[in-house]
Amino acid sequence: MLELQGVSKRYDSGFALHGTDLTIAAEQTTILLGPSGCGKSTLLRLMMGLVWPDTGRVLLSGLELTPRNVRAIRRRIGYVIQDGGLFPHLTARDNVTLMAQYLGWERQRIHERLARLVELTQFPWDRLDQFPAQLSGGQRQRVALMRALMLDPDVVLLDEPLGALDPMIRSELQNDLRDIFRTLRKTVVLVTHDLGEAAFFADRIVLMREGRIIQQGTLRDLLDSPAEPFVTQFIRAQRRPWETSPE
Ligand SMILES: Nc1ncnc2c1ncn2[C@@H]1O[C@H](COP(=O)(O)OP(=O)(O)O)[C@@H](O)[C@H]1O
Ligand SMILES: [Mg+2]
Repeated sequence: MLELQGVSKRYDSGFALHGTDLTIAAEQTTILLGPSGCGKSTLLRLMMGLVWPDTGRVLLSGLELTPRNVRAIRRRIGYVIQDGGLFPHLTARDNVTLMAQYLGWERQRIHERLARLVELTQFPWDRLDQFPAQLSGGQRQRVALMRALMLDPDVVLLDEPLGALDPMIRSELQNDLRDIFRTLRKTVVLVTHDLGEAAFFADRIVLMREGRIIQQGTLRDLLDSPAEPFVTQFIRAQRRPWETSPE
């Protein structure tokens, strides 16, 4: 579905991403995992042309992303960021429907799509006309998700979408998100630095470090056949104190 071929990106401070090949399978959830600053967000932003690579190319369904087609291609991609990125001066409803209105959808079609999304995300109907600041963090992320899904994209990219939420809300939204992705059969790429969250969502984990992909596979693959000592170190660093050691 999504393919990166020899993609690299450098800033003044150094490489955010070294030459990278990556194939993202359709209708699966792929997790980009790794410590802060390892290039996860850069990789995600490259996938939708928010950042352009210094070398290599990005393809969506075999079509190379270029400045000419990027606007059209972005409509096939939903994007959710940590704080939701909602427009503060627009109501929840307008945040969700803005792009469809811009594209000239009929009122009835917009209404039907919105109703479907409200049901899917279990967002309270009576809060649709409130502004982001009047909503809870969890509700804001449900709005951000509805907005990302409004045009029924093939691909959904999420950059630490639950990172700012407290643990109870976070776990509730994790469950709902996983159900939604399974129901819709979307191609999902989700960034997190949290191993537990990665394990919960992942069909496939892509573990990164310092601008490189270190290993790809299931959590089991990472546990049983670590590609380098870093893989084990990363997993151990996140082990919960109440878990017993596997040795
Ligand atoms: N716009 C930018 N300008 C300069 N450096 C950047 C920019 N975006 C990211 N970087 C640098 O690139 C590296 C990777 O960043 P990022 O992709 O945001 O990592 P992650 O999302 O894994 O925390 C970091 O060293 C970061 O400081
Ligand atoms: Mg990031």
